[in-house]
Amino acid sequence: MEERIITSTKGVEDNEVENVLRPSTMEEYVGQEKVKNNLKVYIEAAKKRGDALDHVLLYGPPGLGKTTLSHIIANELGSTLKITSGPAIEKVADLASILSNLNEHDVLFIDEIHRLSRSVEEVLYPAMEDYSLDIILGKGPSARTMRLKLQPFTLIGATTKAGMLTGPLRDRFGVVCRLEMYTIEELSTIINRNAKILNIEIDKDACIELSKRSRGTPRVANRFLKRVRDFAEVKNSKKITLDIAKEALNMLEVDDLGLDYTDRVILNTIIDKFHGGPVGLDTLAAATNEDSNTIEDVYEPYLLQLGFIARTPRGRIVLPNAYKHLGKKISADRQKYLNMYVQGEEDGCNK
Ligand SMILES: Nc1ncnc2c1ncn2[C@@H]1O[C@H](COP(=O)(O)OP(=O)(O)OP(=O)(O)O)[C@@H](O)[C@H]1O
Ligand SMILES: [Mg+2]
Repeated sequence: MEERIITSTKGVEDNEVENVLRPSTMEEYVGQEKVKNNLKVYIEAAKKRGDALDHVLLYGPPGLGKTTLSHIIANELGSTLKITSGPAIEKVADLASILSNLNEHDVLFIDEIHRLSRSVEEVLYPAMEDYSLDIILGKGPSARTMRLKLQPFTLIGATTKAGMLTGPLRDRFGVVCRLEMYTIEELSTIINRNAKILNIEIDKDACIELSKRSRGTPRVANRFLKRVRDFAEVKNSKKITLDIAKEALNMLEVDDLGLDYTDRVILNTIIDKFHGGPVGLDTLAAATNEDSNTIEDVYEPYLLQLGFIARTPRGRIVLPNAYKHLGKKISADRQKYLNMYVQGEEDGCNK
């Protein structure tokens, strides 16, 4: 497989770096101020009352710090964190066993919670609502349910696709937090701190350059930092200068705004093969040879954030900013269409 800098999956090497660079306290966790402030209050209150913290749902694009934050929440609560994921819980019995083994005030982290099967999810409802587990004994007409009491616990669910959560599940989370993309200043703070941990010096302008190209995402920033460090070492430079940073990122085909090869393929495909859109996600996936989930989770959030594409009821369209960035001309017809689109947005007609 080709090597990619922006991915939804994590290699072994990435996991190692992530563990070293993962902040372990709220103070070290940069940005997300609103989320942090809310959580601090709820954590404090739960501790004072001696209750388990309300269930927390964390959602947002990959690499923004959902897993990291769940470790921190458990730390701040002084609780044990048990980690699992939606696809790992195949059977109702798997979940029943996880839940009945929780101790008082444990934190259970379920990653990719939108991927739980419906039957497993239904077991979660009474568990979340009143810490009880309904077990069905026997089969057929003689089957009966037995209610088992669980220890009070906190469920933290993480997902990149909040829209795919069922209503009943979503409603059972007392605290719902949406993680936002990070600003350049926040990413610079993260890169500076991590350069120290990785024992490499970095110039201020180099740090800003890396931040600008990190797509608002700490995981990408950390990955860049590591690659650029390797590059500096090969060049026998004791520190990362702006030139080295630029050279390394250009070699990775990451442009000024942090777009990589695949981002450009996606934009160019919509423009060249679909006249700028609208094009449906599956059609776009087929035309670009990409997985539709990867397009939706990994590439789209940043392109939407940049105002390079928009989602319309009929599919994705490319906006003028993207044409400008790619140095492409907008035809007169297209310009008319885009004007109509913008007008519709302003009138609230496109929603
Ligand atoms: N607020 C933050 N401050 C500093 N570093 C952060 C922050 N958030 C994330 N990171 C860094 O980014 C890396 C990726 O974060 P994390 O694994 O928590 O993302 P995630 O949202 O769980 O991603 P995914 O959806 O792919 O599971 C972490 O290892 C950590 O080093
Ligand atoms: Mg995660």
